[in-house]
Amino acid sequence: MPLETTTNIWHNGRLIPWEKANIHVMSHVIHYGSSVFEGIRCYKQPEGAGIFRLPEHMQRLINSAKIYRMPLAYTVDQLNDAVVEVVEANGVTPCYVRPIAFRGYGEIGVNPLKSPVEVYIANFPWGKYVPGDGGADVCISSWNRLAPNTMPSLAKAGANYMNSQLIRMEADINGYSEGIALDVNGYLSEGSGENLFIVRGGTLYTTPLANSVLNGITRDSILVLARQLGIPVVEQAMPRELLYICDEAFFTGTAAEVTHLRSVDRILVGDGKMGPITSALHKAFFDIVNGLTPDRYNWLTPVKVREAVGV
Ligand SMILES: Cc1ncc(COP(=O)(O)O)c(C=O)c1O
Repeated sequence: MPLETTTNIWHNGRLIPWEKANIHVMSHVIHYGSSVFEGIRCYKQPEGAGIFRLPEHMQRLINSAKIYRMPLAYTVDQLNDAVVEVVEANGVTPCYVRPIAFRGYGEIGVNPLKSPVEVYIANFPWGKYVPGDGGADVCISSWNRLAPNTMPSLAKAGANYMNSQLIRMEADINGYSEGIALDVNGYLSEGSGENLFIVRGGTLYTTPLANSVLNGITRDSILVLARQLGIPVVEQAMPRELLYICDEAFFTGTAAEVTHLRSVDRILVGDGKMGPITSALHKAFFDIVNGLTPDRYNWLTPVKVREAVGV
């Protein structure tokens, strides 16, 4: 989808104009994929706006950088403040926030350690991510998710998304909204940019971190909400065919939010409609992010926006 620009981008501690946020073609990241990033949503509230689970996202960014031995000059608190600063300066909400840290310009060669680390934070309007009204029609990808001893799945690294691109392009070309990848052992893993949940016999199942998934912050939120609603929750490895015989299935993610799956490999999931457990979790999630129910977990960081521009 086309990128809608805003005015400011935060770069290494200060705001710069959107159009000045450029890098050299010989920057390390361009050649070797050396970036880590985040995706965060800022939701419109009845009064003002709130950024969803900002400290958790910033901590994951720091963890991703740590895995790749990329020193970040900022603490979680400083990064939180930087996100608030750029969102407030741009005055656009609801929006998507994209912090990114990468190895910049200086050295050539695979070893990144002497290339400078640059941090940028942008925000922009972004609406629905997984296409399809009335649920997503998805396929099992012919591509596997990252093998655990190759690319670390717990790092949200730019390079991981070459694998995601293969999954997403294949799905798109074959007429599906999204692809679900298996891990290298043939167990269900996740979508190209979403965690996966299945409901069967009243129990909620999701794939554990050992099946090469990103430790999704929406995934964690859904697990918290499910426990609060008294829904039994199990994290376990699952075979592909469970998706064909489950009662309900859905994706979670910052971009995808809570998106129910209508079919998998053209086999209807349940009756194809959003089932009762997915509906309850969908409602619990959106009630919090839209400010319709008290934010009892302190998941929202308030931001003051001059004007609210809808997507
Ligand atoms: C591969 C992958 N899995 C899962 C997720 C969901 O993570 P989160 O809920 O933190 O956005 C994402 C989105 O960032 C993703 O890219």
